[in-house]
Amino acid sequence: MEIIICGCFGKMGREVFKTALTRENTKIVAGIDRNVKKFGNVIKDSENFYVAPVFENASQVNIKCDVIIDFSSPTALDSLLEFAKKNSIALVICATGYTQEQCDLIHEFSKNVPVFMSSNTSLAVNLLIKLAKISKQILGNEFDIEIIEKHHNQKVDAPSGTAMMMAKSLSEKNTELVFNRTNIEGKRNSNEIGIHCIRGGTIKGEHEIIFAGLGECFTLKHVAESREIFARGALSAAEFIKSKSSGFYTMTDLMDCL
Ligand SMILES: NC(=O)c1ccc[n+]([C@@H]2O[C@H](COP(=O)([O-])OP(=O)(O)OC[C@H]3O[C@@H](n4cnc5c(N)ncnc54)[C@H](O)[C@@H]3O)[C@@H](O)[C@H]2O)c1
Repeated sequence: MEIIICGCFGKMGREVFKTALTRENTKIVAGIDRNVKKFGNVIKDSENFYVAPVFENASQVNIKCDVIIDFSSPTALDSLLEFAKKNSIALVICATGYTQEQCDLIHEFSKNVPVFMSSNTSLAVNLLIKLAKISKQILGNEFDIEIIEKHHNQKVDAPSGTAMMMAKSLSEKNTELVFNRTNIEGKRNSNEIGIHCIRGGTIKGEHEIIFAGLGECFTLKHVAESREIFARGALSAAEFIKSKSSGFYTMTDLMDCL
């Protein structure tokens, strides 16, 4: 499987590169990153054994691949979609912070090219979401749901894409998402899901879903200890969609195959 990493000079891009080197049948053929002037126009391993060219923008790429894995930012979306469509390349979108308009565009685009999208490619996080859905089904509406997410002080978007993914998967028609209760007067309504963000230090990513009931509290929690979990998930996603026909795929589809 030949892969181009978009955002290859970032924390996650470098992790995907490193993880891909350990996998058989997986080759990083190029990178895309707007930071070419700072880091140069190649990405390589610590021993300079493996080297791949890096382009500043998808429109400059002159190399074919099976899948693009994107860990850059929503600003790269338009050029990535254009490149993927022109060359019929499957796309694994892992960056977060997209607007609703961009999400609609991605869905529309997936009618032509296979697109895998997930704000969190950790298998365990996605299992946690599955367990949370079952918990809500069994515990019913007697339990209030609150989500707490913690990330490093370099993260630019809040709440995290994962916290939003969790909230959406637990939402019903009348659910109201409440962000940060400061300046909100009055008692909590039972149709709310509260979302709270903490930013500091080098926290890699923690998500907690609290089900608070009458006299008891039940918590599901995931702690990311290494970025490798997301890189492994993204590479599995690439493997999963590389031979799929056009359509929109998520970690739920991937988990259903396990
Ligand atoms: N899906 C997941 O499991 C998962 C896990 C971790 C992080 N993320 C998301 O992935 C993204 C990257 O995270 P990170 O921690 O590696 O960030 P980072 O800031 O370390 O890296 C981002 C890289 O992308 C490049 N970039 C940004 N916009 C670009 C553009 N328009 N064109 C070309 N290059 C561009 C930057 O130069 C940078 O090198 C974030 O949105 C983050 O929330 C997703």
